[in-house]
Amino acid sequence: MNQRILITGGSGLLALNWAHAVKNRCHVTLGLHKRQVVFPEAQIHQIDLESIGALVRSIEEVLPQQVIHMAGLTSVDRCELEPQLAHHINVTLAANVAKACAITGVGLVHISTDHLFSGQDSLVDENQPISPINVYGQTKAEAEYQVLDANPDALVIRTNFYGWGTSYRKSFSDVVINALRIGSNLTLFQDVYYTPILVETLALAVHDLIGLKANGIFNVVGDERISKKDFGLKVAEEFGLEFSSVKTGLFAAQTKLIQRPLDMSLSNHKACNLLGRRLGKTKEHLFKLHEQEINGLKKQVSML
Ligand SMILES: NC(=O)c1ccc[n+]([C@@H]2O[C@H](COP(=O)([O-])OP(=O)(O)OC[C@H]3O[C@@H](n4cnc5c(N)ncnc54)[C@H](OP(=O)(O)O)[C@@H]3O)[C@@H](O)[C@H]2O)c1
Repeated sequence: MNQRILITGGSGLLALNWAHAVKNRCHVTLGLHKRQVVFPEAQIHQIDLESIGALVRSIEEVLPQQVIHMAGLTSVDRCELEPQLAHHINVTLAANVAKACAITGVGLVHISTDHLFSGQDSLVDENQPISPINVYGQTKAEAEYQVLDANPDALVIRTNFYGWGTSYRKSFSDVVINALRIGSNLTLFQDVYYTPILVETLALAVHDLIGLKANGIFNVVGDERISKKDFGLKVAEEFGLEFSSVKTGLFAAQTKLIQRPLDMSLSNHKACNLLGRRLGKTKEHLFKLHEQEINGLKKQVSML
């Protein structure tokens, strides 16, 4: 039988691509805040994350087996400018969701980030002590702690993803593809590394982890550590676009940008060992992203 899931942050980049990815195995309800969206593959429910009581009522109305908490203040720059707001949205609201799930006995997946470390080490695993270097990372780190404190059965997913963006929220892959298609200026950093994963692959892996009754912290990322510049190069190859106009830069040489970890790569061995499969390299994920565009997902999402 299909699972019922309730996704917070339902208008976001991750939520919409996730809803599409799991449409054949879940009944999806998108929990909305301010921005209203209509998505044919999901139900819509207005949700108030400020009150545990209101959250409990929403869970009792929607009756999900799992809540997947994706709402957040995701702009690194905005978090730095408004640290109290960042703490409220990323920590307090996540703790509220965790408490409401504990009260109702509903499963919880909390979406965390790869932004939790100083960026000195490569392919870090789930046992590495966290050491965030900006407000976004600090709030996401604190959220993990509070979520697991309130709800020790929660599944916490550290990741960094891409998919097809809306008119109001672009994915990094959108930025690269759009710039390459219209030939506009694009600078990609060659000293920033990460382990990106396509949302479809991420969502299917997380639902398999739920099926395996996983809890605690799991890195769910792609198999390949890659620089932002080389990611752009692979995008150009997959989509048949000219890369020669792209400028390469060094993040370490930037003086005006908020501090970010240079190496955000995570090891996915723990998740892969439990799943019994690899999660795929960038080339395979970009092939699927391209297929999604051909099959109409880009058009569907970008009209929102
Ligand atoms: N983007 C990445 O590459 C990345 C990487 C690693 C981890 N993550 C994590 O993945 C999750 C999803 O990211 P995303 O990029 O998909 O996010 P996003 O597109 O920026 O969307 C954020 C969502 O959070 C909602 N939200 C914001 N404030 C809220 C509030 N006070 N109450 C209720 N909902 C609120 C927004 O709704 P309204 O607009 O209606 O307020 C929106 O639906 C986040 O937890 C993020 O930290 C993202």
